Amino acid sequence: MTAVSHHCARVSPVAWERLGDRYVARLLDQTLLPHQTRWLTIETPEAMADAITRMIVRGAPAIGIAAAYGLALGAQRARGATASVEAMTRALSDDAAHLLAARPTAVNLHWALARLRAVWERPDSQALSSRDALQEALIREAQAIHEDDRIACDAIGAHGATLIPQGARIITHCNAGALATGGRGTALGVIRSAFERDSAITVLADETRPRLQGGKLTAWELRQDGIPVHVIPDGAAASLMRAGRVDVAIVGADRIAANGDTANKIGTYALALAARAHNIPFYVAAPLSTFDFSAQSGAEIPIEERDAREVTHHEHTALFAADTPVLNPAFDVTPGNFIAAFITECGIIRPPYDESLAQLATSAF
Ligand code: MRU
Repeated sequence: MTAVSHHCARVSPVAWERLGDRYVARLLDQTLLPHQTRWLTIETPEAMADAITRMIVRGAPAIGIAAAYGLALGAQRARGATASVEAMTRALSDDAAHLLAARPTAVNLHWALARLRAVWERPDSQALSSRDALQEALIREAQAIHEDDRIACDAIGAHGATLIPQGARIITHCNAGALATGGRGTALGVIRSAFERDSAITVLADETRPRLQGGKLTAWELRQDGIPVHVIPDGAAASLMRAGRVDVAIVGADRIAANGDTANKIGTYALALAARAHNIPFYVAAPLSTFDFSAQSGAEIPIEERDAREVTHHEHTALFAADTPVLNPAFDVTPGNFIAAFITECGIIRPPYDESLAQLATSAF
């Protein structure tokens, strides 16, 4: 992985570029935002998997896009290093397994790799005619995944904006914005579309302990668009609701089960509980690539446990006494019955989710 420092006005987490006679992927290093804008050049699937694990790129749809480009990089390598299409697909299967292990909760990672795998597993695949053809087909599919997500974000924004009342004070959690997707964001896509219609809306961004995606990323994105935002400590959300200062809650998702149970950044469930207690509608905005219809409920969703150091340290400074035991689950599951609606590129999905999501599954695939 090599680092290149320069400024880039576009808030987009992943890019695919030609560099001389080869392709590279570029990642905006989200661990350094908002203070530094640094793009990393990624040249192998292993480097991409490492960047996903370290959260240089994060957010469910962006993880899927990054993994797809990671596998396209594997195709570029295998095209030169293998002697047959069969050997190339074996190398690609190993690369896909490596990428899949990078983070467990966001199902978009699995979904994107499955979409690429289908390119070489289709029985009559033209892509199998040569190693060059297979590489080109995988690059095209990765780019299509990226572009599809951009389009999905626009549709999510347009559908979701219809749910936002005039002058709404909206609370959100983590970062479900441009930095987390291939477009203008899911939850932030809705907020952006709502703001285009009504400049009176305002946003409260949970800071989102321990990695602070709300304070570092969401506030940065919204301020660039001139959307009024206050960052709040996560623990302030319930009392601000009680004080009548919140009208709507809207968050993204990492994996949504067939019954509507939704895994998202740790603290999302607490926000949903507080919203329920104060009669505030709680919406989840997500593309179809985030739905896992094979998981019957949230109990089947793997929850990532991350390094205790994320909790015990701020950068290199220890916050707690040495060896203080901590738990650091990175996600939680909000039961479907706390969710007023899902906002997808196909429209607004209402309860009962057992029925409406089953219908979505059959119409979408
Ligand atoms: O650990 P992260 O930063 O990858 O978690 C991100 C979230 O939980 C987002 O809310 C979710 O991925 C939706 S992004 C459109």
